[in-house]
Amino acid sequence: MNIPFNQSFPATRLRRLRQAGWIRALTAENTLTPSDLIWSMVVHDGNEPKIPVEAMPGMNRLNVAEAAAAAKRASQLGIPAIAIFPHINPAVKDEEGSESLNPDGLVPTAIKAMKDAAPDVGIICDVALDPFTSHGHDGLIDETGYVLNDETSAVLIEQALVQAEAGADVVAPSDMMDGRIGAIRAALEDAGHINTLILSYAAKYASGFYGPYREAIGSATALIGDKKTYQQNPANTDEALREVAMDIEEGADMVMVKPGLPYLDIVRRVSETFKIPTYAFQVSGEYAMIQAAAQNGWIDGERVMMETLLSFKRAGASGIITYFAETAAQKLA
Ligand code: PBG
Repeated sequence: MNIPFNQSFPATRLRRLRQAGWIRALTAENTLTPSDLIWSMVVHDGNEPKIPVEAMPGMNRLNVAEAAAAAKRASQLGIPAIAIFPHINPAVKDEEGSESLNPDGLVPTAIKAMKDAAPDVGIICDVALDPFTSHGHDGLIDETGYVLNDETSAVLIEQALVQAEAGADVVAPSDMMDGRIGAIRAALEDAGHINTLILSYAAKYASGFYGPYREAIGSATALIGDKKTYQQNPANTDEALREVAMDIEEGADMVMVKPGLPYLDIVRRVSETFKIPTYAFQVSGEYAMIQAAAQNGWIDGERVMMETLLSFKRAGASGIITYFAETAAQKLA
């Protein structure tokens, strides 16, 4: 950086700008508002109210009626959108994840209930098979357990159509199959869903930070092996740009980087390179770390929550998908 003016002491005392709240507020380069937040929410197909997720202290699985009520609260709090993730009865899981295509399944039911309760809140649906497969992978597998690309895409197209049909505003493929964005876009156009948005999990890494989520949606016990043959290697950055470039070319309206905090460098590179709405996913393991340390009294949980959310804005994110959305929006109100 070339700084063309005098920065020498004592003419410049940078602490002058930090001496009181009013001047810190006036000179803040980035801000966090409720409209930056996408509320990550897990819904289940039973009737029980709020089922706590052990690995995510403070986080509950909601039944459909609770999810609809939460959508109303999102609207009141100024949270623009909710991303829903399903926890389904293990008895309906199979090798092909066929429950993902049930038009009367949990996801379509939740979408309708939430849109009825809060039509002004955007509903974002994950497109991937892992909540529905007995093996816990995001796609169809062959006899060796390898996740098949094109065969999986064919199912994801149908899943996205079911979601769009039920009223989802945004479909968000999180599966990392090659070519699925273009295939889903084409199918949506053909079916007349020309305004259904696609938020692509474009740069998604094979991460240990998803651990608690697998408990949340009930795929933890199921997962055979890992997802390293389809999700990205944490060692790579240039590859993330190639992933994003392809998804934009194929018709993604918005892109995501996931996980969030350990990948702020990717958020920065993607947002600067492509100038497309770019979201960061503060995933379950990031949430769990903050909550666990806070519960032990080791950190001030709310302060760290707000600091991490702001860090995504600083890195260039247009918004953040987070399990903290409601708490953070309440604090910002
Ligand atoms: C899978 C999916 C995952 C998450 C969202 N969609 C997990 C995975 O890829 O294994 C993770 C969310 C989180 O950890 O909060 N389609």
